[in-house]
Amino acid sequence: MDQNALKKLVAEAALEYVEAGTVIGVGTGSTANMFIDALARIKGKIDGTVASSVASAERLKSHGIPVLDLNAAGELSVYVDGADESTKHLHLIKGGGGALTREKIVAGAARKFVCIADASKLVDVLGAFPLPIEVIPMARSFVARELVKLGGTPVLRENFTTDNGNIILDIHNLKIMDPVKLEAELNNIPGIVTVGIFAIRPADVLLLGTKDGVKTLT
Ligand code: 5RP
Repeated sequence: MDQNALKKLVAEAALEYVEAGTVIGVGTGSTANMFIDALARIKGKIDGTVASSVASAERLKSHGIPVLDLNAAGELSVYVDGADESTKHLHLIKGGGGALTREKIVAGAARKFVCIADASKLVDVLGAFPLPIEVIPMARSFVARELVKLGGTPVLRENFTTDNGNIILDIHNLKIMDPVKLEAELNNIPGIVTVGIFAIRPADVLLLGTKDGVKTLT
């Protein structure tokens, strides 16, 4: 099975976590897109969705799935989204698509975070995938210098502006041995809006698409 088939497998498997009569959070990226397409088949079961990006909101609406503002939705029963990397402890790197800030907000507002990923995303140590950081534009150089002090190599994501009007620095050459600690440290640097480490609030369930089928890690 190729990577896309594995993504589709876990996207379909995530439908099991959709509770009837609730509002659910929906992530961003190619795996989340497959979940949105699968969700369309059972859209009558839910009260609506909150999207983690403009792109996902558009895709949900194109299927006739209601999209609500988070402020009007209250607590979400579940958040379903992909990841760029995951450890077996369900600590994640996210933000390859640049939607990390809204992803972290919507994940935080959900009772359960179900991460869907193909097997290539499972790693022993986070950091081979460059760590995305959303930064206020005026703080770019200052934040970059602070990141160099921490041993990283920040690279500006060219021609990219987030849904919130900010920039992304992708940090190369990090070996993230303690994701909770590094997430907290980076959160403390002025000018950083969001760090793409999801470890302080990790996923609750990882549905991993493998050649032997869906593996569920909790
Ligand atoms: C977007 C994300 C995505 O979840 C992550 O990049 C994985 O994407 P894909 O499902 O396309 O592999 O964090 O900001």
